[in-house]
Amino acid sequence: MHSYSLIAPAKINLYLEIIGDRPDGYHELAMILQSISLADRIDVLSTNNDSIRVHCNHPQVPTDKSNLAYKAAELMARQFPEAFAKYGGLEISINKQIPVAAGLAGGSTNAAAVLVGIDLLWKLGLTQSELEELGATLGSDVPFCVSGGTAIATGRGEQLSPLPSLDNIYIVLAKYRSLEVSTAWAYKTYRQEFGNSYVRDTNDLVARANAVHSGEIVKAIFERDARKIAEKLHNDLERVVLPAYPQVLQLREIFANQEGVLGTMMSGSGPTVFALFESEQQAEQVKLHIREAISNEDLELFVARTITHGIQVASSV
Ligand code: C5P
Repeated sequence: MHSYSLIAPAKINLYLEIIGDRPDGYHELAMILQSISLADRIDVLSTNNDSIRVHCNHPQVPTDKSNLAYKAAELMARQFPEAFAKYGGLEISINKQIPVAAGLAGGSTNAAAVLVGIDLLWKLGLTQSELEELGATLGSDVPFCVSGGTAIATGRGEQLSPLPSLDNIYIVLAKYRSLEVSTAWAYKTYRQEFGNSYVRDTNDLVARANAVHSGEIVKAIFERDARKIAEKLHNDLERVVLPAYPQVLQLREIFANQEGVLGTMMSGSGPTVFALFESEQQAEQVKLHIREAISNEDLELFVARTITHGIQVASSV
């Protein structure tokens, strides 16, 4: 095989709790991550030279070494120099459907797809956990994006514990195209404003992270009760992003007042806001209502549903 075409799904956070600081400068988190059907397509192709090249149909996405997909390819070339020498260079095409800098792990899922694609292309036979370990060196959300579905993520976000999969919940996502929120800014601002309430004792940090396993939202996921899940949505980063970005707050409020919305929340560090629904029809209806209520062409709206997988192979040649 000389090329693989992969589906790289976005994620939303059903839950994001900031527990405290980590010695590596990151935050200790307890999250519940959920893959959704909104996805990019990534083509990974072997070439006859020794270079790595990235193409993308989206003008905002860099194609140089700063792209996480490029970094993923570089990492694989470094880790497996013999395979790189044997199979030659790589051409990576990203067909972007997931909004950029949106809190939906768009960059992370592209990197995860590149890891999976190169593993197949170079016949490395890596296990899922080996791929996740490599992914963790690229970004906190990359390991989840490899396996996907529904999972608890602790530590930096890279320690995963799978949950029963949810495949019957519909979602409307809303994001202003030109509005971007830096993840680093959101966490830094949260530390400045709420750092004094962080858990400091190491044992307490572990206990708090473990507590998510027996939390109400996890119970609701085990019961596959969309209504209860929606009631327990939570994201600590809303505390800094909503006051700083009135447009995000407005989306949150509009969603909360729509009929059929089970619950609404910002995803990750934002600025995407999502709402959960029991049926696709309700989701489509609310999408229309929001489009009518906010006459701003900058606003992007998507209907998606929860899915049970991460990176998947679409085809190979
Ligand atoms: O790991 P990733 O590159 O996705 O993280 C982006 C930024 O978000 C980090 O540079 C850090 O500032 C912040 N972050 C954090 N704690 C985490 C994950 C991310 O402080 N657990």
